[in-house]
Amino acid sequence: YKKVTVKSLVDMKSNNEKISMLTAYDYTMAKIVDDAGIDVILVGDSASNVMAGHETTLPITLDQMIYHASSVVRAIDRCLVVVDLPFGSYQGDSKIALGSAIRIMKESGGHAVKLEGGAEIQQSISRILTAGIPVMGHLGLTPQSIYKFGTYTVRAKEEEEAIKLKEDAKLLEELGCFAIVLEKVPAKLAQEVAESISIPVIGIGAGSGVDGQVLVMHDMLGMTHEFNPRFLRRYLDLHTEMTNAFKQYISDVKSVDFPNEKEQY
Ligand code: KIV
Ligand code: NA
Repeated sequence: YKKVTVKSLVDMKSNNEKISMLTAYDYTMAKIVDDAGIDVILVGDSASNVMAGHETTLPITLDQMIYHASSVVRAIDRCLVVVDLPFGSYQGDSKIALGSAIRIMKESGGHAVKLEGGAEIQQSISRILTAGIPVMGHLGLTPQSIYKFGTYTVRAKEEEEAIKLKEDAKLLEELGCFAIVLEKVPAKLAQEVAESISIPVIGIGAGSGVDGQVLVMHDMLGMTHEFNPRFLRRYLDLHTEMTNAFKQYISDVKSVDFPNEKEQY
């Protein structure tokens, strides 16, 4: 895939090629991950946690999401850029939802939007789709609903919630979503969902029986230290690496080891 489109992702599912997705929120990181060959960058509202230091994803604004997304879009050549609609920008009133999605597309240059929820937000999803804006769904643990759940533990372990999740996945497919993120649900259920619909299911904490995987970049790089869910694989220990680099720099400045002869004019 020279340039990844929403259609490429559906083709990948048909061809049994797994989809790779990571979050990014800024130009420099997005450029590295796009050059590495990632299929999809998610400008996640996890920026609220990772970039801004909020405890939840609720406080981040549409303007802030557009800032992050426009930085990412300027960096990329190949991957598909999906942007989260933040809390409060799409629920309840589908016209507001469309307005928010249009702002993201126009002002950031992103390629698609992601919304959390199923039946509750179907009007918003449908209306956004009428404008030709591709929509990615998000089911399971939907962090914008943390105060409803009360905890970030695994969702849909009980029959009732599992049934609703399967119905919601079907509904999102019927409405015309091009993919669904499934967060923190039992692997067996996630696989059932992936097998029951033709659009790709991209998992986070949803096992290997889905059509792709997504992680938060700062988590997989090991920059976030206190966050240790079972599903997270750390590919680097950047927290340690960076701490050592910063300490070395501080010490070099103090001892006037830096700058040396060659590092000045
Ligand atoms: O905001 C985010 O990073 C996400 C992913 C965890 C799926 O929605
Ligand atoms: Na998100």
